[in-house]
Amino acid sequence: MKKNILVGVCGGIASYKTCELIRLLVKDAFNVKVVMTESATRFVSPLVFQTLCDNPVYLDMFALFKEDRPQHIDIAQWASCAVIAPLSANTLSKIASGICDNLLTTVICALPGNTKLILAPAMNNCMWENPLIQKNIQTLKNLKKYIIMPAEKGELACGTYGQGRMPSPEDIYSKIKSALR
Ligand SMILES: Cc1cc2nc3c(=O)[nH]c(=O)nc-3n(C[C@H](O)[C@H](O)[C@H](O)COP(=O)(O)O)c2cc1C
Repeated sequence: MKKNILVGVCGGIASYKTCELIRLLVKDAFNVKVVMTESATRFVSPLVFQTLCDNPVYLDMFALFKEDRPQHIDIAQWASCAVIAPLSANTLSKIASGICDNLLTTVICALPGNTKLILAPAMNNCMWENPLIQKNIQTLKNLKKYIIMPAEKGELACGTYGQGRMPSPEDIYSKIKSALR
């Protein structure tokens, strides 16, 4: 069985925890490729993810590609399972609307129907509670296509307490393992 995990990373403070998620996956012999949004690169350097997964990190929708297919199709077809951690309010809303305006959102749109996608949102509690974000989460839930890990309650990096924390790397890792069963 293919053990190729695509990890999408958005611009959120929880992206430092994605390093640990990748470490767990690599330790378990998964092949890991990372696609970052431009905002994500402001939080963790692509070099960190590249070093952890020993694969190039994908950022640019229009980068010249070596394979015979455009990158977004190639990466989408390579993945046996995809995860976005952290998933920002912005990218969550784009996915719920079918927007494909960067490499990550385009790869997600191009995933074959049988590829599991795990979403691990993380954001400030007011963003999480915003009715528009809740509506977009409900839209994604209604599709019954994606595995959505609800943001957890706790202390948030912005200094408030509430729902918005990304699930732990261990929990996301377990979800990936069970999605592949
Ligand atoms: C310090 C800082 C922390 C942020 N943390 C989050 C976050 O945890 N979740 C979130 O949805 N947005 C967060 N944002 C806002 C996003 O980075 C912003 O909405 C960005 O446009 C997301 O882009 P992306 O979805 O393409 O990654 C944060 C911004 C800053 C400056």
